[in-house]
Amino acid sequence: MNARANTCEDLRDLAEQATGQAYAPYSRLHVGAALRSVSGWTYTGSNVENAAFPIGMCAERAAIAAAVQAEGCNFRLEAIAVAAVSAEDGSILPIAPCGACRQALVEFGPDAEVSFRQPDGSWLDVSADALLPYRFVMPAR
Ligand code: THU
Repeated sequence: MNARANTCEDLRDLAEQATGQAYAPYSRLHVGAALRSVSGWTYTGSNVENAAFPIGMCAERAAIAAAVQAEGCNFRLEAIAVAAVSAEDGSILPIAPCGACRQALVEFGPDAEVSFRQPDGSWLDVSADALLPYRFVMPAR
């Protein structure tokens, strides 16, 4: 997807819309992510599960893959919102990016704003850097 999303509210709305494209028959947790690149384009992703559980894909990394596909190695992340909906009753659920997705986020934008719902339903904005202290960095060789 390639549309303009200018505010964090736009990204949050797109993330919630992207939950509708999830393939999550095993967890029944529909996750959506919407990101804005530094160049101003917006990309979305949804989680894609598999009967072989470990090969499932998170929504955030699906959105990053779409952005890299479109923008190539110049892609830099400015902001991302993540949302989750229960397939059981359609309720909106709190979700924070998993550890693997945090590592993927800092790769493309340590200063990026990451937006997700807390257990009380409010949105929290935090930098990707703050989400993953002491992360892996490829040592200089
Ligand atoms: N999931 C995401 O899409 N993003 C995350 O950051 C955490 C978890 C998905 C993976 C799996 O399909 C489902 O949520 C339950 O773990």
